[in-house]
Amino acid sequence: MSQPVSSSIATPCPPQASPPGATGVRAALTTAMAGLLVGLDTGLIAEALGFIGHDFHASARAQEWVVSVLMIGALLGSLGAGVFSRRFGRRLALGAATLLIGAGALLCATAGLIGQILLGRFLIGVAIGICTFTAPLYISELTTGKMRGAMVSTFSMLQSCGILLGYLAGGLFAGGGHWRLMVGLPVVPAMALFAACALLPSSPSWLAARGRFEEARKVLRDLRGDEAEADRELDCIRHELGADKAVGGFALLRARPYFRRSVALGIGLQVMQQLTGINVVMYYAPKILEGAHFGTTAAAWATVLVGLVNAVVGVGAIFMVSRWGRRPLLVSSCIIMACALGCAAVIEGMHLQGLGATLSLVAALLVFVAGFGMGAGPLVWTLCSEIQPIAGRDFGVACSTLANWGMDWAVSNTFLTIVGAMGAGWTFAGFSLMNIGFVLFTVLLVPETRDVPLEVIEQHLEAGLPLRRIGR
Ligand code: BGC
Repeated sequence: MSQPVSSSIATPCPPQASPPGATGVRAALTTAMAGLLVGLDTGLIAEALGFIGHDFHASARAQEWVVSVLMIGALLGSLGAGVFSRRFGRRLALGAATLLIGAGALLCATAGLIGQILLGRFLIGVAIGICTFTAPLYISELTTGKMRGAMVSTFSMLQSCGILLGYLAGGLFAGGGHWRLMVGLPVVPAMALFAACALLPSSPSWLAARGRFEEARKVLRDLRGDEAEADRELDCIRHELGADKAVGGFALLRARPYFRRSVALGIGLQVMQQLTGINVVMYYAPKILEGAHFGTTAAAWATVLVGLVNAVVGVGAIFMVSRWGRRPLLVSSCIIMACALGCAAVIEGMHLQGLGATLSLVAALLVFVAGFGMGAGPLVWTLCSEIQPIAGRDFGVACSTLANWGMDWAVSNTFLTIVGAMGAGWTFAGFSLMNIGFVLFTVLLVPETRDVPLEVIEQHLEAGLPLRRIGR
């Protein structure tokens, strides 16, 4: 049965006016480097796959498994990360993930059998699942309302940079056929991040949720560099934890209707993000372009360009997120993506040929990726880390991260089949419609959380406000 809503709405935490401390920003930036690792492992495999297939005489099915076993690992990783991170903390979860990435990359680089590659990719997948769960959550707990959006967007931007780096490294090592160097590359950044994890503080919210209030106060004072602000923040966290402190995520889901709503919103956001079609372009850009009569080399360079635009726009998004706010940016992002995919649908559907049509298709894909990078990419991760109440945050973020990887797997594993059955034109038209659906979803359900403390969002959620009004 649902418990009475706490009276916390009567004493809301005032919005934080002071800028975040330098230590908090440094810690958040270090954590954001996990995005680079996630992206690198996504981008590298495109080029390495052909060599692996050749050296191990792997069938097309086996090659598909080399790609998709990572997503299965990520699904399990994001699920397990919720439990691990709640028990042992964000810092240890991130450290464990970097070790797993290092081990997985080493297994792949030294593989004598295709099975060893599959095991290595699975371990990397588990680690990526842990990183995508832990990093945005940890960052949002380390920073204040003013910097939160920008810092979580940095994680997303670095993910895009990692994909680009993966494409580039793939191109660089491909000439000499050095695929082992390619797949072994993540060992270096993984070990660097592992070392950096030792310097990270524990999350103050996590410490408080475990009843370690004095440690939380010390960390907060260190992060914010302002004792009064730190103490005020701890009071808010303590107040929000209330009676739900010891309750697990699943029990909270059954007991609190407001938690069911925030979990559903997080899952919805991640499902919609994947239905934009981003990974169809990320994973299949060379195939789409070769289908449009590009040569293999031209398609490879155009793919690098796609990665470059995704990364550069991600840098711009860091600034836009704090200025424009979440809702306007997300709506503009989806409209741009819907229009770009609409153009791609016309070009493909009408079988337009010639240089003009080919260049227009590349332009449409670039505009699409830019639209994603400025909004749906960074903002979905940001919002998912902001909307969950503290007592169920691990569970809520684990559910939304799981939805991200599940839909990623579903979309990327069905894309070629759908194109085969319906043609590329109708497939792109379908994704364009999904983006219009995302506009409606945003207008009706997504809150504006810019500059709003997590504790205030939680109070509004508890008070039963409509989802789109739990922010400002
Ligand atoms: C998405 C990933 C995607 C990446 C591309 C992320 O926000 O969740 O699925 O591959 O952006 O940059």
